[in-house]
Amino acid sequence: MPILIDGKIVSTQIKNELKQKTESLFQDKGIIPGLALMLVGDDPASKIYVSSKEKACAEIGFKSIVKRVPADTPESDVLKQIDEWNQDSSIHGILVQAPLPKHIDSNKVIMRIRPDKDVDGFHPENMGRLVIGLPGFLSCTPAGIMELLKRYEIDTQGKHTVVLGRSNIVGKPIANLLYQKNKYANSIVTICHTGTKDFAYYTKQADILIAAMGVPELIKAEHVKEGVVIIDVGINRVEDPSNPKGYRLTGDVDFNSVYEKAQAITPVPGGVGPMTIAMLLQNTYFSAAGLVKF
Ligand code: GUN
Repeated sequence: MPILIDGKIVSTQIKNELKQKTESLFQDKGIIPGLALMLVGDDPASKIYVSSKEKACAEIGFKSIVKRVPADTPESDVLKQIDEWNQDSSIHGILVQAPLPKHIDSNKVIMRIRPDKDVDGFHPENMGRLVIGLPGFLSCTPAGIMELLKRYEIDTQGKHTVVLGRSNIVGKPIANLLYQKNKYANSIVTICHTGTKDFAYYTKQADILIAAMGVPELIKAEHVKEGVVIIDVGINRVEDPSNPKGYRLTGDVDFNSVYEKAQAITPVPGGVGPMTIAMLLQNTYFSAAGLVKF
């Protein structure tokens, strides 16, 4: 039976720890961490994510501001709002929910956020810091994966980690984190992507497999070796007439198929997903407490 890597339990622990630290920060320095969130348009999944982030802030005693604007909001208005938050000393973290409507250049938006308030870790300065191993904000999903590997004492030293997907949000940063020379990384990393002709050739060699390509249940037992550690980043909606909602959430890995072969595995939902919000809160706390030195 594999170990179930439970992101719900770990994220709850982290949030409880943060709640206490937030109280102390207020008592010691009179600072309340402030997170500003922007949602452009009405993408159903993004609406849910932003509301969850807002709720999580309230639960641990953060201040949050949510600006919800229509999909046809001009890019210049979005940039102007970011400029205001950049200057507001009660705001320690700024997040503009992706994806953005086509007429808005998401790179421009990301680059407008002050790197020391970029709690998403998407700004090139933070990405660059991650690559060369300097302090900065780590993007939340990769940070959540690293935290799970650490807390479940998964040995990454000298192991072959195969990352499926090369997105800026997950694939690129997690691959870079896992080959850094430190106790919790030092892996040999392979990145597979849409240009990979025979992905199974690589996945069958993986000691640790990180699936973040956004294809529901692609990875099956025949693609992995015995004893693999599987981190499933996928959150896909698939039709399911037997479910009252008409759909169910599933990962990029066919959980039931790989289960017997895995040494440890994250479920979907309840694995990596809850960690992402916990890491966003942690980054915002770090920013408010001045714990990330630029
Ligand atoms: N869309 C999906 N995930 C994320 C995230 O972590 N941050 C932002 N800003 N948008 C997202």
